[in-house]
Amino acid sequence: CGIIALIGSRDAGPIILEGLRRLEYRGYDSAGLAAIDIDTSGAGKLTCLKAAGRLVNLTKKYDELGAPGFCAIGHTRWATHGKPEERNAHPHLDGSAQVAVVQNGIIENCQALKEPLERDGVVFTSDTDTEVIPHHISQQIKYLQDEGEPVSSRLLLKAVQRVLPLIQGTYALAIIWEAVPKALVVASKQAPLLIGLGSGEFLCASDTPAFADFTDTILPLKDGEVALLTPLGVELYNEFGVEQQRNPVLLTNVEQKVDKGHFRHFMLKEIYEQAEIAALWVGKHLAKARIDSKYLQSDSLISLSLDDEVFEGIERIQILACGTSRHASLIGAYLLEQFAGIPTSVFYASEFRYAPPPLLSNTLTIAVTQSGETADTLAALQMEQKRLEARADPLCNSCQLGITNRPDSSLTRQVSHLLYISAGIEIGVAATKTFLGQLLTFYGLTLAFAERRNSCSKSELRALVTELQELPYYLRKLIKEHDELCANLAENFDDVRGVVFLGRGINYPIALEGALKLKEISYIQAEGYPAGEMKHGPIALLDPEVPVVSIAVPGRVFSKVISNCQEAKARDAKVIGITPIGPETKLFDMLLPIPEVSEWLSPLLTVIPMQLLSYHIACHRGLDVDQPRNLAKSVTVE
Ligand code: G6P
Repeated sequence: CGIIALIGSRDAGPIILEGLRRLEYRGYDSAGLAAIDIDTSGAGKLTCLKAAGRLVNLTKKYDELGAPGFCAIGHTRWATHGKPEERNAHPHLDGSAQVAVVQNGIIENCQALKEPLERDGVVFTSDTDTEVIPHHISQQIKYLQDEGEPVSSRLLLKAVQRVLPLIQGTYALAIIWEAVPKALVVASKQAPLLIGLGSGEFLCASDTPAFADFTDTILPLKDGEVALLTPLGVELYNEFGVEQQRNPVLLTNVEQKVDKGHFRHFMLKEIYEQAEIAALWVGKHLAKARIDSKYLQSDSLISLSLDDEVFEGIERIQILACGTSRHASLIGAYLLEQFAGIPTSVFYASEFRYAPPPLLSNTLTIAVTQSGETADTLAALQMEQKRLEARADPLCNSCQLGITNRPDSSLTRQVSHLLYISAGIEIGVAATKTFLGQLLTFYGLTLAFAERRNSCSKSELRALVTELQELPYYLRKLIKEHDELCANLAENFDDVRGVVFLGRGINYPIALEGALKLKEISYIQAEGYPAGEMKHGPIALLDPEVPVVSIAVPGRVFSKVISNCQEAKARDAKVIGITPIGPETKLFDMLLPIPEVSEWLSPLLTVIPMQLLSYHIACHRGLDVDQPRNLAKSVTVE
């Protein structure tokens, strides 16, 4: 979910709505805002507007009804508890509609928090976990007033500070109270929340894009902190109520303007941008002149700005990631093991955090997340950091590296070593260019390890670097060609019941990614399998309505993949080949040809037809490609 809150001296509504627009990628099933206006007598009046569906519905409501005030909170939701209906949209209010709360996270003990309130006669109007919070705050406000506390922003702060320890789970919260129209309280526990410092105003948000055009100076809340914001300043307290002093930080990357250009969707634009991303990466990290002429022993083919600590004495690597980032990590692991010779394991972050393998020394842990905010990945990494700290004999050379596209994200604050993939902000919920950026980062890391360890010959190293230098050219050509080819192929998927994606070796994760992309945006059931496994189960699915997409790249297992395709054809399945043109091509019912490159380089190309095929199938079905149902770009809950 996306949270935004403003306190200052201008009408907050338009700024809240613009902030929500920039945070919409975090969830878009409903949205809402609440603002407090001050009348001539100085009394506050709270207005709350909510709408199910996309943000545009809330904007329409706001245009119609208005919600004036200098202090406001807003929310764009990705449903956890309760269906995406208007009554479940945030902000949530207390019984007297004076306290309004927006929340990102999960209140795990919401049932236990609800029961005493219900006994007191509180009637809940939503199915959310969040609604318990305004009611509890309102109750504490009453208790504090009974204890003689005068109405003030401090009273609101105190009430919130009394409620926070009751909550189990994770949260980022923004709270306003009609009685104190010039106060905003925010709090965070294992969910990101940043305070942007403007001149005479403060903007709080769950992610940096919301600060574009507002400020580049931010104060990220630390775990367990709560802050009181008034037009006069920020008071920050830790979870024990002790006031904190901390300098703000500068955003390293001013967010780029986001528009679709001449493209129909962000996703298509982002697919096209991959050639440029590759060109920038090659220019920045590979040294061309050295390869063309004389590659001296002492010269390095790859330059990465990483400390030696990341490389020295490392005997194994473990990678933590979710979704598409995990698929990039699987290719990374293949490269690190097969090219650089380092044993590497990839874990679902959500599994690792509760069932990690035994700790071993000399391990490099890599957390991969394009958003830098995925709760499971951050928690898995934090758990590993705590395990290491708890060891009486500190394990030598255990080091953590983050790979992300977001230099100002929570991940960057959690790791001491970082590789930033520089793909530019990605808006389409289905990751495309950030996947390629992650792959390139793994190629760089692999080359750097391989060079240091002499795990392969100089000529092998040089061959891969030379091929990588050709990548922008290949991509440019391939994207254009496949855009057209996939647009024509899309109608063949009108009546399919499912699609099986097959790949082997370094291209097996591309089969997984192809299936995930198709599921994400076209809602077609899809399976990604290592081609050799097809006969052990998925083959039972095959018939004329379940086509097979086969990634068949000449190399170690080419003939085996071709045999697997024959097996599929023998079951009447249509087979779409992602393969270079050659004698085997005639086997395929449909072809998405790729250039003949080495297996090492191939995933950087075979992923393109996966992206474009799913894109065009989704378009052909008239679906919302950039904001597919039920998904969010940044999943900050467990
Ligand atoms: C969400 C997105 C996926 C993404 C995954 C991991 O589920 O919908 O597209 O792959 O999160 O995101 P991350 O930011 O950690 O790479």
